[in-house]
Amino acid sequence: MKESDEIIGKLKRRAARAAAHCYAPYSRFAVGAAVLSATGQVYAGCNVENASLGLTQCAERVALTTAIADGSAPGTFTTLVIYTPGTRAHSPCGACRQVMHELMAPDSLVASCCDSNEVRVWHRSEHLPDPFSPGALSHLTNDDP
Ligand code: THU
Repeated sequence: MKESDEIIGKLKRRAARAAAHCYAPYSRFAVGAAVLSATGQVYAGCNVENASLGLTQCAERVALTTAIADGSAPGTFTTLVIYTPGTRAHSPCGACRQVMHELMAPDSLVASCCDSNEVRVWHRSEHLPDPFSPGALSHLTNDDP
């Protein structure tokens, strides 16, 4: 088995465990995510909805922000796996792709799994072409007037 398949399998188990804790009374669509840090730690997240629907937090962003809160360095995560129950592996939403672009390592992988054997895998750069990047805000950190 390839090393990346083993990592994806391990993260899938963690993401599935997190999906079981989702708070999704409105969509009834459970999502779990697990991310691997550069130091080998795994952080998981699930979607957390709110009656004010726009405040819903996606599983991917919960996993990434939990990892950052524990001290993992932004821009260094190597693999993120999404799990949704059922027989279809779903794509991550656009907002999560933008956040993954900034927080994951440049050569990182994103995978989506479900209860069938279907696994979809993207390189970070592949699923968000021409992203809005931190460089656009360089004038804010530039000392020049
Ligand atoms: N959701 C995620 O957690 N991740 C995504 O990438 C897409 C959507 C959640 C948000 C909401 O709770 C439910 O799935 C339906 O949109």
